Amino acid sequence: MAKYIVKQSGPLKGEVHISGAKNAVLPLMAATLLSEEKCVIRDVPHLRDVALMKELLSSLGSKIEETEEHVLSINTEDIVSTEADFEIVNKMRASILVMGPLLARKGRARVPHPGGCAIGARPIDLHLKGFEALGAILTVGDDYVEAVAGGQGLVGDTIYLDFPSVGATENIMMAAVFAEGTTYIENAAEEPEIVDLANFMNKMGAKIKGAGTDTIKIEGVKSLGSANHTVIPDRIEAGTFMLAAAITRGNVHINNVLPDHLKPVIAKLRECGVRIEVGDEDMIVRGNLGPQYATDIKTLPYPGFPTDIQSPFMAYLTTVEGSSTVIETVFENRFMHVSQLGKMGAIIETAGNKASVKGNAKLRGCQVMATDLRAGAALVLAGLVAEGTTEISEIYHIERGYEYFIEKFAALGAEIERVED
Ligand code: EPZ
Repeated sequence: MAKYIVKQSGPLKGEVHISGAKNAVLPLMAATLLSEEKCVIRDVPHLRDVALMKELLSSLGSKIEETEEHVLSINTEDIVSTEADFEIVNKMRASILVMGPLLARKGRARVPHPGGCAIGARPIDLHLKGFEALGAILTVGDDYVEAVAGGQGLVGDTIYLDFPSVGATENIMMAAVFAEGTTYIENAAEEPEIVDLANFMNKMGAKIKGAGTDTIKIEGVKSLGSANHTVIPDRIEAGTFMLAAAITRGNVHINNVLPDHLKPVIAKLRECGVRIEVGDEDMIVRGNLGPQYATDIKTLPYPGFPTDIQSPFMAYLTTVEGSSTVIETVFENRFMHVSQLGKMGAIIETAGNKASVKGNAKLRGCQVMATDLRAGAALVLAGLVAEGTTEISEIYHIERGYEYFIEKFAALGAEIERVED
């Protein structure tokens, strides 16, 4: 298995270009199942999860070509199967996002239960509640779930989401696109990735309004055509590099970022004393202009503080003056990085979904393990400032979600290398 070897590095300096968003490109790719014509998606990041989604779509009948670097052409004239492959679903939860499009286009979908993962059980009850409300008959087996549209096809309805689930909002939006009449999703997720998906679907001919607010209206249409779309920049990758600049007291110019997508992270880092200059599609983050102080963060659905930045931010908070509290409200088990940071000398106490983080930690390099994508990124950040060398195992978690991760950090002066065990 591969590992990262991270050495104490000086302040990071230079420019980094942010890739297309993992959490936008996966639903965008799933949505191409809705179109009978060729779709082109640009700024597609080279990620394991993208490769898995390509494999899944191909198994369902899509013809996929990488016409040039970061450009995918996807053509699904005919869907040859409505069953998602167990192996792929097992490796990537986001595979569940093909369920809505299959149900909409073919009237049926069968997907193995996407397992939970390190950060929580991650049920799909809200996805299924939406499909049922549209008239689908559900069969839930031990290891799969099937949805079949009634004889007259799906019919629009109003669906209230008990929690503003990102995946459920995306899946229901896609399932409703051909439903008779109008569908409303209430208490919908408002993430930028939802807006990106709605924009793409509208380019194909869908009639979706309200994406980015808590109520989304989908008027059923007969079919969808071709579309050309560029993925939005990855706000979570951008946030990770903001924290890399802050934790190393560096000076980093981040290109291809939409600062509007990162308001809570910008606000909290400014509270800590980090200087952030914001442009239209770039920002300069300076962690080298003076002392930095504790703050408190509480993760919330968008536009609140993003849960995916919680662990990298916690790594940073171990290095500032004073104690901070971190409250995680989105996932029930997203403090797996706490024990690993503790091995490096951080002093963090947790009680339920609240962590108390002591500042001024003397972090020391040692062997640690990535438990999920963002926890792994947090350990890399800690390794950059810890004394000595930090060895991070299970790095496949990190490489599923960050394109050219090592190369981008090394270009900023980080002493980091990837070794096969
Ligand atoms: C998406 O996951 C992202 N993944 C996650 O990013 C992100 O952390 C999450 O949204 C929240 O922003 C992708 O977009 C591929 P949810 P998703 O449904 O859709 C509960 C990363 O690191 N819930 O909004 O699975 C669920 O258990 C990943 O890039 C239900 O109870 O997130 C969780 O507690 C990690 N029933 C909460 O909602 C449901 O039917 C948020 O989940 C669905 C969700």
